[in-house]
Amino acid sequence: MPPDDESSAAAYPSSESYTKVLQGRYEFGRILGRGGSSKVYRARDVRTGVHVAVKAVPKPHHPCSPEDAAAARRSVERELAALRRVRGHPHVVRLLDVLASRSTVYLVLDLARGGSVQSALEERGRSDEPVARRLFGQLVSALAHAHARGVFHRDVKPDNLLLDERGDLKLTDFGLCAFADRHLAPDGLTATACGSPAYVAPEILLKKRYDPGKADVWSCGVVLFSLTAGYLPFNDGNLMGMYRKICSGRLRCPKWFSMELRNLIGRMLDPEPNTRIKVDEMLDHPWLRKDGMSFSSITPPGSSHPTPEVVKWEAESELAREMNAFDILTFASGCDLSGLIGTLSDRVRFIVSGINAKSVLDKVEELGREEGFVVRRKEERGFGGVLFEAICANFVAQVSVRPLHEEILLVEAERASNKVAPKFWEKLQASLKFSTN
Ligand code: ADE
Repeated sequence: MPPDDESSAAAYPSSESYTKVLQGRYEFGRILGRGGSSKVYRARDVRTGVHVAVKAVPKPHHPCSPEDAAAARRSVERELAALRRVRGHPHVVRLLDVLASRSTVYLVLDLARGGSVQSALEERGRSDEPVARRLFGQLVSALAHAHARGVFHRDVKPDNLLLDERGDLKLTDFGLCAFADRHLAPDGLTATACGSPAYVAPEILLKKRYDPGKADVWSCGVVLFSLTAGYLPFNDGNLMGMYRKICSGRLRCPKWFSMELRNLIGRMLDPEPNTRIKVDEMLDHPWLRKDGMSFSSITPPGSSHPTPEVVKWEAESELAREMNAFDILTFASGCDLSGLIGTLSDRVRFIVSGINAKSVLDKVEELGREEGFVVRRKEERGFGGVLFEAICANFVAQVSVRPLHEEILLVEAERASNKVAPKFWEKLQASLKFSTN
């Protein structure tokens, strides 16, 4: 049975395979998979009849250390933020809904009916090159899309590659991912070792600081080798032996590999990260282009060259949405606002009530336009922000609004520096003071 509070799970007298209902919304069926402390269930949306997968992630037990609680929370936040940031790609699993009970957070995902690539490998063995090409192209396209949005998966392996009813690939499980703007040092490197032993890049095993994009490429190389060979490229009876082989730089391909496949795998399983092939180059590699196939990373219109401030702003909007899902709905036991209110030199925060997010955003948007700035606005179900740029695309300031509780909003305004548009900054703050408590 799904872990749940008794209050939110009712016995459901239905067919033999669906027995419990989560918050009146999803009937739970059998377990599809487990990972860490989470379990994934097959489920059915009671209102629409649509079959879905529900990932149940237990919240840390109480009492537990603040560190454990924070780690558990970070992992779910990370997965949610990643799924939101990379959404819209046909080969990334879609997040449909988020629910929470006292003990568990539930991520409702697209159901991939074809199981995992790992099960397919175990049941059917290796694939011919044309079959592997199609799947692998879909994986590279999904990763290129994620990398372009600053999301690095860090746990690419056949268990995390699902297949839908048409046999198309869906990349899943972003719980270990890294964000370019949150988890990497300014040089783009990290030191957090993660991944599954057989798929992990040598630079991680050697405890070096590493580029997570390059580490994803290595893991993809292991996946492609396994798909087409039917066995792992580096294997050994014990873990240390396996690690030695991974770091050795020696790779033996089976005799049935084509020349192009050998070349591509050799370039992905290059132990030197700086000369390893990049995701974008892989999309153009002759092996992937064979049979007239073409795979692209999908980038939405208007996001071709976002400035660093726009990237940061978009990331913070996501953070705002996470706050709603977690601080307020699930994790917060009460709202202690004291730490939230305060004034930094270039940032002001207001707690606002009696006005909705749209009205606040309308007001500051109008002010920005009057002052002649380029205004970008994002709004979604009570969250939102407005970004002000000078004509030459220089970041000037931003305002974000997030609901704290029912009719209470947290409004934050931030500016680039005290040298940029000081008069506008004063007007902006004044425009927000109407509702200061
Ligand atoms: N196992 C883990 N996630 C799944 C999903 N979304 N669909 C099917 N099986 C899964």
